[in-house]
Amino acid sequence: MFYEPSKNDHGLARNPFNSLVVPRPIGWISSRDEAGVLNLAPYSFFNAVCYKPPTVMFSGGVGSAADGMKDSIRNIEATKEFVCNLASWELREQMNASSASVSSEVDEFKLSGLTPVASNLIGAPRIKESPVSLECRYIKSVEIPSWEPSDKFIMILGEVIGVHIDDEFITEEGLVDVVRMSPIGRMGYNDYSRVDEDNLFEMERPK
Ligand SMILES: Cc1cc2nc3c(=O)[nH]c(=O)nc-3n(C[C@H](O)[C@H](O)[C@H](O)COP(=O)(O)O)c2cc1C
Repeated sequence: MFYEPSKNDHGLARNPFNSLVVPRPIGWISSRDEAGVLNLAPYSFFNAVCYKPPTVMFSGGVGSAADGMKDSIRNIEATKEFVCNLASWELREQMNASSASVSSEVDEFKLSGLTPVASNLIGAPRIKESPVSLECRYIKSVEIPSWEPSDKFIMILGEVIGVHIDDEFITEEGLVDVVRMSPIGRMGYNDYSRVDEDNLFEMERPK
């Protein structure tokens, strides 16, 4: 089959796009507003975009707040900092709880029963329970050209300036034990994937 997204002519039960770029890593973004109210939300339009300097991106669509912005985007544009925490199998329920559409006054750390701890280099807190947290300094926002104003998506780029890895997940050989961290990824619909022993494999790159 072939379809053109702008015509929405896929003829399927649901828009398949989110099932076609998979699995997507989940950036579990913690930030705070100018008054210090904490915010936490998962974003799967998220990825690392380069290695040096380590840089990440995520993008948010129109939110339910009066200004139409997602709280994470508004906070980061105002405070110029955020943390990307790793969402793991063990923390899946808390990750999902933190995605609730609640007012910007609500602290999703409390809502999802997670512990905010101070970051080393920035004011936004990280999630204590998460195996990995990347402290990020805001670089810039890129507004994605939209079909309609109601579709507005903004991409945030941030430089990773500090990295926390729970020592429990570092092996004696000095490697990160990704299987034990068991990160989860977003598939389409309400589906997720997870990394475990059965689905990790190794391949040498050709010379
Ligand atoms: C696994 C998962 C991934 C999500 N990815 C995105 C995303 O990439 N972009 C987006 O705008 N919303 C995404 N959402 C929805 C947001 O998490 C949700 O709108 C949240 O309330 C936004 O919070 P905020 O306004 O505090 O930033 C996702 C939700 C889940 C559960």
